Formats: sequence, C-alpha cells, structure tokens
Amino acid sequence: MKYFIGNWKMFGIPKSINILNRINSFYSKDKNKNKYKVVITPPYTLIETYSRHFRNKKINIGSQNCYQLDQYSSNTAAVSSYMLKSVGAKYTLVGHSDNRNEGDTDIILNNKVKFALKNNLKVVFCIGENKIQKNNKKTFSVLTRQLTKVLEKKFNKNNIVVAYEPIWAIGTGKIPTFKELSKTIEHIKKVLKKIFKSKSPEVLYGGSVDGSNIGMFREIKQIDGFLIGGASKSSKKFIDIIKNYYR
Ligand code: 13P
Repeated sequence: MKYFIGNWKMFGIPKSINILNRINSFYSKDKNKNKYKVVITPPYTLIETYSRHFRNKKINIGSQNCYQLDQYSSNTAAVSSYMLKSVGAKYTLVGHSDNRNEGDTDIILNNKVKFALKNNLKVVFCIGENKIQKNNKKTFSVLTRQLTKVLEKKFNKNNIVVAYEPIWAIGTGKIPTFKELSKTIEHIKKVLKKIFKSKSPEVLYGGSVDGSNIGMFREIKQIDGFLIGGASKSSKKFIDIIKNYYR
C-alpha cells in the first residue's frame, strides 16, 4: 500500500474543502485506488469539519502536529492527541522540520509519538538532514540519531510510518538524485529494522514532489509513498502526482 499524504501547513479555510472534494471524486473513480491511501493534514481549525465530512469516504484526515502530553494540561494553545482523536483525526505528523526548528527535541518527539499511539492515531514520523549536514556527509548519522533517539521497540510499528524529508529539498524545487535517495531509504529501513527487530515500517519521501518528478521517485521501489507540501494545495497538482505515479 502506497501513501500520498498532503500537508497543507498554514493554508486553508472551511471552503477549501472543495479541493478535497475534487480529490475524493478522482479517487472514487480511479482504477488504481486499492493500491494507495490518501491522507490530508489541514490546520487544527479544519480537522473536525473535514473529518466529519469525509467520515465515510476514503480520504483520511490527520493533524500536522500534536502536543507532548497526554489528554489535558495547562499549556496555552496546546492540542493533545487525545483531543485530535476526539474530533476525528486518524493520523498525526510528528517531528516535521518546521516544528523541530521551533524547539521539538528528541525527548519531546518521543513523548509525542508515545501519546499519539496511545490515543490511537497513526504517526507519520518526519526526519531529515539540513544542507550543512548533507554537505558534511553527515546524512546517515543524523538520520540514525533522529530515529534511534525517538522510536522504541515497544512502540506499535504497524501504526508508524516514517517520512524522510531532507530540509534542503522542502519547498526549494531541489530533490536528491536517484542514487542518493535509494541509498538513504535503504539506510533508514536498515535502522528501523534494527530498532523494531523485525520488518521496517513504511518509509515515505517528502520534499518538492510534483507531477513532473514523480516518475523518478517511482523507480525507487523501496519508497512507500510521499509527503507532499506545496502541490497538495491544488487538487489538480495533487491528482497529477497520483496519475503520473501509476502511468
Ligand atoms: P514541499 O512539497 O512544498 O516541498 O513540502 C514538503 C513538506 O514539507 C511536506 O511536509
């Protein structure tokens, strides 16, 4: 099963649901629909209405983040996995580089994953190196650290998906080469296999994915899906990615 996950970031108001309606009508007629899942992570403000609207449909609604504590706390503006689950979220991203930049440490991320799983959300755990780390050939060691410091063997790996998003590729139009990416995905799966002492969870790629470069990514069979930012804000661009993937 492949994943096409659209991360809207700070985008969307109630009527933006039209974008998802168009994706949903494409999906329901697509002959390849049994081969993939669609997940969209709108901002917090839209999770409840969108989840309700798509309750019996194949579009899954998720959150872009969750708080590091279970249920309730006195932290202003914090939203827990418990609260997200209660309004219909099925997934949550954890560890997006935007949130790491705002202070998410490995310890915080470990708690976020733990409480998201406890509250029955599927976790899309994001990792990725920055440009300096890449230039200094530190990609593998950075990714190994990000994975081993946060994920634990006792976590239910069936509810975890890892998304590799090199920071230098996010929103820049730059993407890794076929060779770089194949090797990196292989490395991530090797580390995950070690952590869980069994088959690796699915590993996705994210960073400047669009309808014109998806063909290259398709050739890397170990990639289990995509985390899509900019192109997920347009139904046409998002659908083009799926169409071109199964072309
Ligand atoms: P872009 O697809 O806009 O590069 O964003 C990727 C991303 O950060 C998704 O989480």
